[in-house]
Amino acid sequence: MSDSSRDFENKAVLKSLESVYCPAAIKEARERQDHILIERFRGYPYAIADIGCGTGYHGSIFAPACRLYHGFERAPDIASIAQERWRQEGLNNTTLFLGDVTKATLPSDFYDLVFCLYFTPGNFREPSPDLSLYTDAYLDRNPSFIAIFSRFYQALKPGGLMFLTIYKDVPEAEEAQIDFYEHTGQRVVTARGTRFVATAEHFWSARWTRESLLSNLTACGIAASAVLFHDLNHIAWLVKVTK
Ligand SMILES: C[S@@+](CC[C@H](N)C(=O)[O-])C[C@H]1O[C@@H](n2cnc3c(N)ncnc32)[C@H](O)[C@@H]1O
Repeated sequence: MSDSSRDFENKAVLKSLESVYCPAAIKEARERQDHILIERFRGYPYAIADIGCGTGYHGSIFAPACRLYHGFERAPDIASIAQERWRQEGLNNTTLFLGDVTKATLPSDFYDLVFCLYFTPGNFREPSPDLSLYTDAYLDRNPSFIAIFSRFYQALKPGGLMFLTIYKDVPEAEEAQIDFYEHTGQRVVTARGTRFVATAEHFWSARWTRESLLSNLTACGIAASAVLFHDLNHIAWLVKVTK
């Protein structure tokens, strides 16, 4: 992907993260995701990795009590916002790793918790201007997803947990995605019913079936028996992986 395409994508992502408008179903899923994680994990001295940490929202929630918080973020402008936010909050146990997380080098058996929230697992793909690359077969065995989650599963301590928030592949989720991207100044270029929504601004977000997620996780060396799907609402799952 060219630098200017990546710039467009990063600006589109930042706009959506800062948008006051959010479709009701997406807002509800996000609030439920946060409620569950806060109830279970805030206030404990965990080592936490946040894949695609965005503007640092979850760092602000968990870092005040956790042992360490590692945010992984590719977009420089977004990463700077996270770093500045954590600096202002005095969160000295946070570290921002800037770069493509597909290539992250990680310690083994290190993290208690790995988060990949707010539909971020559906953003990982090898960038291509040719959208026909992203066939169902690709989505069922996505090389970027597999590179990332193999690494982070390895980096999780035995007994550690990984949480992924994903869209279900249902028409209501697609409607909400389109609504969100169009309200944040993007132009959707995919036909309805495609398993991902892509925009002219190079943003890309896939939806999932249980089978497609399990197929990708199995390719990461994760057994289906370690994976639990929790319904956030009619458009979203919070998926728990236990190591
Ligand atoms: C949907 S946003 C979610 C941000 C944050 N987790 C939240 O809940 O607000 C996804 C984030 O992942 C980042 N991202 C996408 N692909 C990435 C990659 N390959 N490496 C690192 N960060 C990536 C994007 O730049 C974006 O900030």
